[in-house]
Amino acid sequence: MVTIYDKKFDTYLSEETILKRVKELSVAINKDYEGKRPLFIAILNGSFMFAADLFKQLSIEAELCFIKLASYDGMKSTGKVVTSIGLEEDIFGKDIIIVEDIVDTGRTLHNFLPKLQHQQPKSLKIATLLHKPEATEFPLELDYVGFEIPKKFVVGYGLDYDGLGRNLKEIYQLV
Ligand code: IMP
Repeated sequence: MVTIYDKKFDTYLSEETILKRVKELSVAINKDYEGKRPLFIAILNGSFMFAADLFKQLSIEAELCFIKLASYDGMKSTGKVVTSIGLEEDIFGKDIIIVEDIVDTGRTLHNFLPKLQHQQPKSLKIATLLHKPEATEFPLELDYVGFEIPKKFVVGYGLDYDGLGRNLKEIYQLV
């Protein structure tokens, strides 16, 4: 059990469970991308730990960059607009794998993916450590999913509650 600010969290996924699953995902990626050289685009801040552990397990040639996404309200008809900060790489003709910590409503990626598609990568896949299927409102095809979890707030292993908890090695669920 950990306490962050006013909230109590119970252990949900142990470090061992997480690392075992991350390894399984990297085995699948090694197989799917054999002979290719994908560019991993990890979305900050939450995905830094997952991206590092996943990347360490790769045996294929691969590149990695980190970006931040900023969302703001566009004109009424367009809703939320998502822009990326730090994507200097030219992704035209490349095999891209987006690395996310968690897909909740799916809104962020749903709004961001068309921007990447516009730059005509050769392929575009998504790897997310966590997915809350019950919370997902925006359609997304998720290619590599670590764990499907219930619609409850979680922290640890990169994920935060108001800036804290990212350093925890395990994933904790709100009590
Ligand atoms: P979405 O756009 O609703 O899919 O939200 C995705 C982002 O919301 C993630 O990248 C996280 O930063 C944040 N988020 C969603 N659920 C949680 C959670 O349970 N714990 C911590 N952050 C979360």
